[in-house]
Amino acid sequence: MNGFSGDVRVAAEVRYLIERYDVRTIVETGTFRGDTTAALAEMVRGRGAFVHSIERDVERWADASVRLDDGPIGLHCGRSETVLPRILADADGPVLFYLDAHWPDSPVLAELAAIAEHAPDPILVIHDVANPDHGDYAFDTYGEFSLTWPTLREAVEACYTHGCRHWHNDAASGKRVGVLYVVPDGTETDVSTNDTNCTKTETKGTTR
Ligand SMILES: C[S@@+](CC[C@H](N)C(=O)[O-])C[C@H]1O[C@@H](n2cnc3c(N)ncnc32)[C@H](O)[C@@H]1O
Repeated sequence: MNGFSGDVRVAAEVRYLIERYDVRTIVETGTFRGDTTAALAEMVRGRGAFVHSIERDVERWADASVRLDDGPIGLHCGRSETVLPRILADADGPVLFYLDAHWPDSPVLAELAAIAEHAPDPILVIHDVANPDHGDYAFDTYGEFSLTWPTLREAVEACYTHGCRHWHNDAASGKRVGVLYVVPDGTETDVSTNDTNCTKTETKGTTR
């Protein structure tokens, strides 16, 4: 699989966001086998950007470390919510986060709290979020907590100093998973979406 759970549309959108925001640092949570890590490193090759990936399972981390021994990649073993503040202390911005850590539970709310504190105004790509326009796209549920825009909204909006825009993937391939994208709100009329892939579902975030 070529990363992004085999979804070429997510890959295209992430590539677009990297270029549109001149992303300097990418942080993936949940390395697993490193397929997406490798794809992200390929996207930033020659751009001087760096890819961090965090995996809490020591065997998966060790396996990925063998597979990904080349390129601008840093692999970290530990829980994302603990490792993120350490990485972000020295990270160049803008930072794009590919939040994909889960099993057996989801650290996403703790991850967003760390991002709000240490890397405000991020470009967020959150995997496994329910898509309101595509009920057939997979998303994560843990007991009474499901990853949806309403359940994530407050934590997401706290990451932005001047509000944000969000949208969901409007087409999917591969494992057909719901994806939430969030970017800082701006003064430009140009929205940061790849028009062929995304619905421009706009939401004003909080202004602090
Ligand atoms: C769906 S897989 C990630 C897939 C990978 N991003 C990809 O695209 O190929 C989820 C991974 O998150 C890891 N994980 C779960 N909770 C975590 C946490 N709190 N911090 C870091 N990794 C975590 C799991 O061990 C698992 O390997």
